[in-house]
Amino acid sequence: MFLRRATVAAGTLLSTVLLLFIAPAQAAQAAPAPTVAAAPPVPVAHRGASAYAPENTLAAVDKAHELHITWVENDVQRSRDGELVVVHDPTLSRTTDVEQVFPDRAPWNVADFTAAEIAQLDAGSWFDAQFAGERVPTLRQYLQKLTSTGQNLLLEIKRPDLYPGIESEILAELDRQGWLDQRHLRDKLVIQSFDAASVARIHELNPEVKTGFLGTPAVSDLSDYATYCDQVNPRYTDLTAEYVQAVQAVRGAHGRPLEVFTWTVDDASTATRLADMGVNGIISNAPDVVAGALSG
Ligand code: G3P
Ligand code: CA
Repeated sequence: MFLRRATVAAGTLLSTVLLLFIAPAQAAQAAPAPTVAAAPPVPVAHRGASAYAPENTLAAVDKAHELHITWVENDVQRSRDGELVVVHDPTLSRTTDVEQVFPDRAPWNVADFTAAEIAQLDAGSWFDAQFAGERVPTLRQYLQKLTSTGQNLLLEIKRPDLYPGIESEILAELDRQGWLDQRHLRDKLVIQSFDAASVARIHELNPEVKTGFLGTPAVSDLSDYATYCDQVNPRYTDLTAEYVQAVQAVRGAHGRPLEVFTWTVDDASTATRLADMGVNGIISNAPDVVAGALSG
């Protein structure tokens, strides 16, 4: 009997000792990132305030500024002669008059036109006659505009598979325009893409730049994305509160909880619902509507 009691006591002691040593180690390993403060999400003007002005133009940046929207999203591609230009589609057809100006140049790919040719195009009339003469901006012009307004940039690398090496060119342009100093790196610039390899390349070339992956990775893969991303940015229809929490529970490339910026949300009730889920940013064509819902 004594022997059995002694054995049990020894076992208990051993378990206690093991718990004292192992439990903290396990807790440290599984330690979730701290809960993200319940700050309201940041409204981001998608392609500029593109509900009110032609997308990805300087007019759309001005409109966002007029609406007091501090973050602007855009899309960056490359011309035939290597100029970085701000345009969404891989062709110029939908958002310019390229088919009238260059009728024999089908399929009117961005990559087939020089910067001088693109600069001739009207990127405003398709949206509204009052914007006739608006141009497809170069990234340089776009950054200079944001510098003058003081706005921040969520820069999307669009279709990097079409533009090998575009990541280093984007970083070089950002550097030339003063967008890689500590102030911009800290809280005025995020580079995102649907292409994970392109985002990883940005992180590899300049680990100080904040980055985002556009998509909805499996929760089990989030820790891999977190090695080079600071944000995971899903389509809003893919989101649940549980997913938002799972993303924010992982620390990103700069040691802070991964953020969630979701897109493209143009109505107040959806914006409010997403804010209740705890997202960090809402990307919207009508960012004033989102801002109004969030402040209400
Ligand atoms: O920023 C997110 C959103 O812009 C991604 O979709 O097609 O509008 O570039 P898309
Ligand atoms: Ca985009």
